[in-house]
Amino acid sequence: MKHHAQWPLQALREAVAPDLPDLELEVLTQIDSTNSELMRRARAGRLAPALLVAERQTAGRGRLGRQWFSQDGTAASLTFSLGLPLAPPDWSGLSLAVGIAMVRSLHPDLRLKWPNDLWWQARKLAGILIETVSCADKRYAIIGIGVNLETPAVTDLATPAAWLTELLPGLDAPQTLLRVAAPLVQTLKTFEAQGFAPFQASFNSYDALAGLTITLGDGTAGVAHGVDELGALRVLTEQGWRKITSAEVSPRPIGQPPSVNFQAV
Ligand code: BTN
Repeated sequence: MKHHAQWPLQALREAVAPDLPDLELEVLTQIDSTNSELMRRARAGRLAPALLVAERQTAGRGRLGRQWFSQDGTAASLTFSLGLPLAPPDWSGLSLAVGIAMVRSLHPDLRLKWPNDLWWQARKLAGILIETVSCADKRYAIIGIGVNLETPAVTDLATPAAWLTELLPGLDAPQTLLRVAAPLVQTLKTFEAQGFAPFQASFNSYDALAGLTITLGDGTAGVAHGVDELGALRVLTEQGWRKITSAEVSPRPIGQPPSVNFQAV
């Protein structure tokens, strides 16, 4: 079902026009998952740049096969996906670059927890799920973002939740989308031209894990020291430097000693 009520579609279109003049913009009252819908469309040959927003997801997905729970309604959460053909020199670090665009456009006190969560005060405020579909010589990238705006209804989350109105009272989903859309598109264009390198210093300035002791998948402990020019996490262990390129991060309740478990090294 379509729904265009309070969404500033014209303002959104104008904001992204310099980088994506032909963006298809659509708001749905309900869908299983905006990422799943853009995946289905891409597989059916619909490869134009598209921004798909849902006021309610019935089967929101997170990374690593997890579910993404979000409260219904435009006051409570923002869930959307941006799909576009992308041909970067190297895909490494894309989710980090997307996280940087979110922090810059939302609030400077937010932090990024490698590889792609937005944190505020060690609680998770937003998540990013990036998926791709092959199309001829390019890939169609689907960048799904979920932002908590109010306290989520689900309380037994692996990571405790934060919500944006703690920092920016009164902000709703349409206003939040209007803040992030153009910076996100600009970031993707920069990433497509130059890869992750121009974002490395910025990520490290927002790095939530910097200086924390983390546990690697094989049980080795080490201190996180930011990311390299491809976005791999640098960890100093007793045996020397390790670089981590994909990860499973375990729950880390507030008040516990800082410790994060990484699966793949
Ligand atoms: C994560 O934290 O593991 C990623 C969460 C990503 C959630 C967003 S909400 C919009 C888009 N559609 C989905 O089904 N997931 C992403």
